[in-house]
Amino acid sequence: MNITEKLIKSHLVSGEMIPGKEIAIKIDQTLTQDSTGTMAYLQFEAIGIPRVKTEKSVAYIDHNTLQTGFENADDHKYIQTVAKKHGIYFSKPGNGICHQVHLERFGKPGKTLLGSDSHTPTGGGIGMLAIGAGGLDVAVAMGGGAYYLAMPRVCRVVLTGKLSPWVTAKDVILEVLRRLSVKGGVGKVMEYAGEGVKTLSVPQRATITNMGAELGATTSVFPSDEVTRAFLKAQGREEDWIELKADDDAIYDEEVVIALDEIEPLVACPHSPDNIKKVSEIKDLAVDQVAIGSCTNSSYTDMMTVAALLKGKTVDPNVSLVIAPGSKQVMNMLAANGALADIISAGARILECGCGPCIGMGQAPATNAVSLRTVNRNFEGRSGTKSAQVYIVSPETAVASALSGKLTDPHTLGEAPLVSMPEHFLVNDNLIIPPAPEGECVKVVRGPNIQPFPKNTKVPKEIKGGALIKVEDNITTDHIMPSNAKLLPFRSNVPYLADYCLTPCDPEFPARAKKAGGGFIIAGQNYGQGSSREHAALAPLQLGVKAVLAKSFARIHMANLINNGILPLVFVNEWDYDNIKVGDEFVIKYAADQIKGAAQGQIVNVTCVKTGEEIPTRLNISERQRDILLAGGLLNYTKESN
Ligand code: F3S
Repeated sequence: MNITEKLIKSHLVSGEMIPGKEIAIKIDQTLTQDSTGTMAYLQFEAIGIPRVKTEKSVAYIDHNTLQTGFENADDHKYIQTVAKKHGIYFSKPGNGICHQVHLERFGKPGKTLLGSDSHTPTGGGIGMLAIGAGGLDVAVAMGGGAYYLAMPRVCRVVLTGKLSPWVTAKDVILEVLRRLSVKGGVGKVMEYAGEGVKTLSVPQRATITNMGAELGATTSVFPSDEVTRAFLKAQGREEDWIELKADDDAIYDEEVVIALDEIEPLVACPHSPDNIKKVSEIKDLAVDQVAIGSCTNSSYTDMMTVAALLKGKTVDPNVSLVIAPGSKQVMNMLAANGALADIISAGARILECGCGPCIGMGQAPATNAVSLRTVNRNFEGRSGTKSAQVYIVSPETAVASALSGKLTDPHTLGEAPLVSMPEHFLVNDNLIIPPAPEGECVKVVRGPNIQPFPKNTKVPKEIKGGALIKVEDNITTDHIMPSNAKLLPFRSNVPYLADYCLTPCDPEFPARAKKAGGGFIIAGQNYGQGSSREHAALAPLQLGVKAVLAKSFARIHMANLINNGILPLVFVNEWDYDNIKVGDEFVIKYAADQIKGAAQGQIVNVTCVKTGEEIPTRLNISERQRDILLAGGLLNYTKESN
């Protein structure tokens, strides 16, 4: 077996390990960040289990750390207390970015990790099967439920040779992106192998697995070897190490070979991480801002390299250089050994240990500015400024450019500094709050921004309701639940958000739905396309929506509706859509029986109350989804299974 198969086999709960088939795996560890975490914990509370059933669950605060109102602070307090009560470790604001801290203090080779953040695959750098998922999936995993996914294909990425001076792990993953594109990893695990693996440190490996997310991969994984062991030993956790390697005769679905010594410093140009050029190819690109940090390049060795390059020099007068070390451990070590002084003295602006510029938090570039960043994503507007041109580079290229004022190949800096991994990291976990041994007496603090979460009930005998709204084709999750800067701080306040549900289509919809006590949404083709946001199912649930009748659904939104116990019904005859008017009343008789029949491919009849006419629909669901719908959503289903 290859490493991926070994990790999956040792955690397999159900399903066959045939690529594309649904499998379920047991989850050992979970992580959340604050932006997705509040909802995950509200959902976990709704399952009603007193303590998490995972080996280790950690709640990080790293995204919304700037406080311009009470909302973020309310969220932090809620997460801290809910974590304490239910057996979850809490990493305080200032302790660092979830993926960097998890690697340092919690990750273990051979374990599974499910995180409510897309860069959770960072954990693959120490041989974890680390997967990013929705908050609800993480809540279910904390409650002891398995995680369902399609069995991935395994792509072996063979690394040969060794990196030349000034070429970094960032350039390796940019090279993989150049070859395979942002779609190249879909449905796959990227498994790294070959002689070159030994030459890469854990932070370098983690940079590569982190940006596997940009390939669209399920996850990426490195073997766990002596390098991994040395890293864990330096973190005072050698006992967490196990060896993990592919069998000599392991079979892979695909193979890519990367010669490390042939790679040059690379840059991902606006606005996609796979728009790759050689740094040396781009001439005279003046730079306005340089941001070093994010969960992909903020390790101790990254920062020591940056400090060594900045020592005794001054940042170009036209450049704003901002640096966010990835964790308190990193910042502490830089402060203790004097490297922080070198960075400050060169004119860099030091930011809190957190995501910061990566999501435009406090460091959005100026209008039309060129921003060089060591982040993993450069989609339009991601930096906080729509017109900004964001280029992704290594920390070495970032510093060379910050000093010269234009995109610069680091080779121009002369001899590359020698930065080695420390034998001992400075371990001080005083910003990590362990859970209370007994959670019963812990009171969860819910500020006004933390509001009760909508819960569905078991399918009733009859599902009744009126057509509350009729929308066109291609309605996105952004139409269903807008997510603008004004609404973002209210992610843990579904009742508030529900007042904006589908308002881009019909401003009266929320009021009408509330007045009617719920009902049905009528939609055209491809309903719910776009981002995977769960709030696009939660807000309708809050308003009492029981079913959506559409010509067709976008796949992820359909799954989200099912997870919340809302029926995604597809018209058998599209002309029925034309005949429905807002206000028409409907009933689904013998609802439970019809749902059971639907899993076998039978029609679900929706009866018009006034005319008695039947509208035939289909519910394209698996047997597991049938049980989820009957229970009134995934949370109830998990509760029942427990
Ligand atoms: Fe944070 Fe950006 Fe990573 S938002 S978790 S640093 S991708």
